[in-house]
Amino acid sequence: MYSQVLKGAAYTDVARELEAHAGEELAHAIRIAKQIDYLGGMPGVTPKPVKTSNDPVEMLRADLENERETVGRYRERIRQAEAMGEFALSETLRAIIVQEQEHEIDLAAALDIDVPLPKEPSERKTGENK
Ligand SMILES: [Fe+2]
Ligand SMILES: [Fe+2]
Repeated sequence: MYSQVLKGAAYTDVARELEAHAGEELAHAIRIAKQIDYLGGMPGVTPKPVKTSNDPVEMLRADLENERETVGRYRERIRQAEAMGEFALSETLRAIIVQEQEHEIDLAAALDIDVPLPKEPSERKTGENK
């Protein structure tokens, strides 16, 4: 959605980049759905609401925030997959987190800021690293 509504000559390259991200996100969803099906689950189909704005900078900030949150969630899921001995799942998640981190870097670059520190999910305080 962001790739199509981002307006302005200054954002042409960024919009093209976001369109590439969208294709990668679809590929992620398919790979995750395959893993969930393998584990006997039913993939969820309800997406989180998407924050929109007419201001390109605000929109890119929202997208950066989405990617940061996503990276944090994948970190958590990788730890869970490893703890369960689900190494194929872990490999799948690791390949995806590499791309999510690239999305984060691309958006930070588009906003001309440094990549903010990773966001850790608040649920991770049960301390498997103690
Ligand atoms: Fe993704
Ligand atoms: Fe992403």
